[in-house]
Amino acid sequence: MKRVRKAVFPVAGLGTRFLPATKAIPKEMLTVVDRPVIQYVVDEAREAGIEHFIFVTGRNKGVIEDHFDIQFELNHTLAERGKDEQLSKLGALQPKAGQTSFTRQQEPLGLGHAVWCARDLVGDEPFALLLPDMITLPDQGCMKDMVSLYNETGGSIIAVEECDPAEAHKYGIIGRGEDAGTGFEITGMVEKPKPGTAPSNLYINGRYILQPEIFSILESQEKGAGNEIQLTDGMLKLQQEQSFYGYHYRGRTFDCGSPEGFIEANVAFALQRTDINHGIAGVIRDLLDELGPEAKRAVG
Ligand code: G1P
Repeated sequence: MKRVRKAVFPVAGLGTRFLPATKAIPKEMLTVVDRPVIQYVVDEAREAGIEHFIFVTGRNKGVIEDHFDIQFELNHTLAERGKDEQLSKLGALQPKAGQTSFTRQQEPLGLGHAVWCARDLVGDEPFALLLPDMITLPDQGCMKDMVSLYNETGGSIIAVEECDPAEAHKYGIIGRGEDAGTGFEITGMVEKPKPGTAPSNLYINGRYILQPEIFSILESQEKGAGNEIQLTDGMLKLQQEQSFYGYHYRGRTFDCGSPEGFIEANVAFALQRTDINHGIAGVIRDLLDELGPEAKRAVG
């Protein structure tokens, strides 16, 4: 069985849910506490043992490539000023030379098309796919668990979480079959089901391990929901031909592509940080007091 060595990050999305913030700045570069969102996702992949990071970018996304390069002048200045802590923080996150690749999705034709754009860079081996809007808490856990499950079962794997049934039409939703190892078999998948038709309340949270046969399926894929080439439709075909498993992630995923999810992520990650959480918890408490009973009712 081939190891999962490479990860794909489809970062070409326009970020229309987050305008005007994303007019000139890629949504993946917005910061949660003090790291860009994309950094959390790359760190999760690294933690899972990924050795090569493939970015499917688009126009106006050059800053992502810069972020993962060495900033020679910055490092030099930090070293000169004796800022060793900041220097080693940057060093720990730095991909090594040759560990990153970048290609472009030239037109916004959908997630399935973005993944297909990575076909030559991935080659004939299983790969991880991490959607860059979605960050998981505890961070770094979800893909690592999925790689462990993959080492038991092989095949393809998607992570799922429970959602409010009223929200199911926003996601890819799966049908759950028999248990298999620490996961379960997948019996079906549907992208953005019409209200009342979802096969379960388990939504695809943006973490995948896929076999390379997905690329030939996506090559001739018809457009689906939202008139886009949908990855979920391609995975449904793959699931009919090969083993396909689900992994129920018990952490929590934040959708940083929307202002609401992004703010939730900032609060949640800030409250995890022992260097700043004390002050932040105090401010949240004070604000709730100042804003009065109305705000308190909103938080339950
Ligand atoms: C994509 C996937 C969907 C998944 C979602 C998670 O949808 O197509 O299956 O549930 O990400 O965020 P999008 O958010 O691009 O509409």
